[in-house]
Amino acid sequence: MVARQLPKLKTRVRFPSPAPRLKTMAESNLISSTFDWYLMDIMPIVSQNAIQQKYGYHGLYTHTAAVVFRGIDYALNLGKSPKNVVLACAFHDMARVTDGDDTQHGANAVPMALRVMDEIGNIDIKSRDSIAYAIKNHSFNLVAPDYVSACLWDADRTRLAWELGYNSRFFATQRAKTVAAGNANQYLQFMNQNMSDYARNIITKLDKQY
Ligand SMILES: [Fe+2]
Repeated sequence: MVARQLPKLKTRVRFPSPAPRLKTMAESNLISSTFDWYLMDIMPIVSQNAIQQKYGYHGLYTHTAAVVFRGIDYALNLGKSPKNVVLACAFHDMARVTDGDDTQHGANAVPMALRVMDEIGNIDIKSRDSIAYAIKNHSFNLVAPDYVSACLWDADRTRLAWELGYNSRFFATQRAKTVAAGNANQYLQFMNQNMSDYARNIITKLDKQY
């Protein structure tokens, strides 16, 4: 009896399809993803063009990063796109040469910011004007003409409220009023919870003085 030839077993190795990576809460939220965009796409260009310090009271990786984070938070709470607020916050102190009185640093940052915006590209004239106005006037003005100025000025002044005491006349947005009048340490916790691991590796100094 001829053994019936068994068909060869076709072994087929099945690779398990990779399980979708679970996103952390920070990765799935808009503050965190916008902050990552700032760190990856904007901060390196600012860093190459800025004359401000990297660390310290007005540093790029300390104060400016904190202002960008708060700016995103405040813009989102207004229901606005945070993009132009991020740019205004990113550029606002790039010409600062001292932690002391530097009354011209806002105006001096404008030509730098315009150069950086040329490099980034794809920013319309209205946005450029709005960002330039917000930067130029961030130290003095109280009446913000639009949400970009309102969010930058509020984000920049929040630490002053934590340091010197809260005064509502310096703030325009409701979210900033709540944050500036509230507990600084609680906000630092909020920042930490809403930053990705990537961001936490770059922005290592979170402090209420920033
Ligand atoms: Fe500032």
